[in-house]
Amino acid sequence: MSRHVTSKRITAPDIAARKGGEPIVALTSYHAHTARLADEHVDLLLVGDSVGMVLYGHGSTIPVTLEMMIVHGRVVAQAAGHALVVVDMPFGSYEESPEQAFRNAATVMKETGCGAVKLEGGERMADTIAFLTSRGIPVMAHVGLTPQSVNALGGFFVQGREKAQWEAIERDARAVAEAGAFCVVLEAVAEPLARRITETCPIPTIGIGASPVCDGQILVMEDMLGLNPRPPKFVKAYADLAAAIDDAIAAYANEVRQRRFPAPQHTYGMKKKP
Ligand code: KIV
Repeated sequence: MSRHVTSKRITAPDIAARKGGEPIVALTSYHAHTARLADEHVDLLLVGDSVGMVLYGHGSTIPVTLEMMIVHGRVVAQAAGHALVVVDMPFGSYEESPEQAFRNAATVMKETGCGAVKLEGGERMADTIAFLTSRGIPVMAHVGLTPQSVNALGGFFVQGREKAQWEAIERDARAVAEAGAFCVVLEAVAEPLARRITETCPIPTIGIGASPVCDGQILVMEDMLGLNPRPPKFVKAYADLAAAIDDAIAAYANEVRQRRFPAPQHTYGMKKKP
């Protein structure tokens, strides 16, 4: 099912140019092995701060640090040769001032080799986005449900169910586009609003729980692989890897206990690639 044969890495302007065109395929990845597997199938790999919940078991993304993002960003950027790699700016690393955001985003780009950063917030982050983009840092914006604001929002809720909320979210999308973001994540945005924003916003909208009307889609890879015991309701599981891993480990444990484990090899080299 290999799709892409080009060795050229996708850039932020390539993604921006896909507005209204072929849907943009995006997934999260935090490690080399998943990045390698996904790279040829997707246009964009996001090293999301969801790493804090998915890999580290935190209840939210708030505890995620810049150091964590750099460690995971570096391995993904090294493993992926085709997809645009975007690294999330964690909570507290960019909100204070445009200068703080630039300093930390530049460190992320230097240390990881990623092609862009992502940050949460609409109108309130427009000055910061303009500051970064005018200084050579491509920015993916993120509006609608912004998980780093979970404590202020009081939980993870669909945004834009009431028409009264639409205007503010539309203003957010417009503001990040005018500030120079190359695309914008719409998270948990009700379909009629996601459609309106996608039709009027000049940059690609990347939906997560925002219906198929967006210019592209992103999912947390562990959710769509069936590795999250409590995935969000909107996620389709394309595999049941939790069950497959459980079966494999049970089979291994069984063989070890029965001393049926394969005989030792005399060399310790790696198997040839299939
Ligand atoms: O951190 C993340 O994985 C994200 C996606 C949900 C868009 O921000």
